[in-house]
Amino acid sequence: MTDLTVRNTRETDIPALIDLQRRVYPTIAPWTESRVRQQLDVFPQGQFLALYGERVVGCASSMVIRWDEWSTEHTWKEITTSGTFDNHDPDGRTLYGAEVFVDPKLRGRRVGHRLYEARRGLCRRANLRRIIACGRLPGYHHYAQQISAETYAKKVVWGDINDPVLSFQLSEGFRYCGVIEGYLPEDAESCSAASLIVWINPHFDSSRPTWAIAKVQDP
Ligand SMILES: CC(C)(COP(=O)(O)OP(=O)(O)OC[C@H]1O[C@@H](n2cnc3c(N)ncnc32)[C@H](O)[C@@H]1OP(=O)(O)O)[C@@H](O)C(=O)NCCC(=O)NCCS
Repeated sequence: MTDLTVRNTRETDIPALIDLQRRVYPTIAPWTESRVRQQLDVFPQGQFLALYGERVVGCASSMVIRWDEWSTEHTWKEITTSGTFDNHDPDGRTLYGAEVFVDPKLRGRRVGHRLYEARRGLCRRANLRRIIACGRLPGYHHYAQQISAETYAKKVVWGDINDPVLSFQLSEGFRYCGVIEGYLPEDAESCSAASLIVWINPHFDSSRPTWAIAKVQDP
């Protein structure tokens, strides 16, 4: 799409972003304006928006963490401090994807790809080691009576099942690392489960400082 741009989120975008989030997740409470403002205060470089012309059509939010502190077990609420991103730690080496969504009318048009590309660009520019996220498994509820979330996710990786989110993330070069149960209790479609996924920054250089926040510019 030629009219598609991706840039960092601005305060003036907040009402449109929340309106889109409400349409994407009709059964899950959207962020409040003050919550998004907090995210922008904490880590403006990690918040991306996709625009089709002037219209907000997608969003990707992230923060930086020390993965060792969270790898064993966590929920979305714990790691993002209920979406405030208070756990953002500029000394960390992991970009953590907290949220991504695209306007339902524009799915399959590479908007998600552009948002993920912006995240990968940030990861490279900041010399971070990797991107980690816990992805929803919205197709799982169709299979939950027959198989575990882990078996479901494996079948997606094997290509036997297509999941609207995990299949997208695998297409984007992420690797599947396992399932976290109870990650997002309000996510009925995923039966609260999420897949832990990682993208390794091929350009990560351990001899260079990881985070040069002043030098990380808008894409
Ligand atoms: C997941 C989501 C962000 C994907 O966005 P999108 O704009 O539709 O995806 P794109 O068009 O950019 O797709 C990028 C790649 O993923 C692939 N892909 C996307 N959806 C897919 C699906 N359902 N099955 C298989 N592959 C898929 C595309 O084919 C494309 O691959 P290609 O480059 O080889 O052609 C979008 O579906 C969404 O907003 N879902 C609801 C919100 C949500 O659950 N977010 C996840 C939170 S963890």
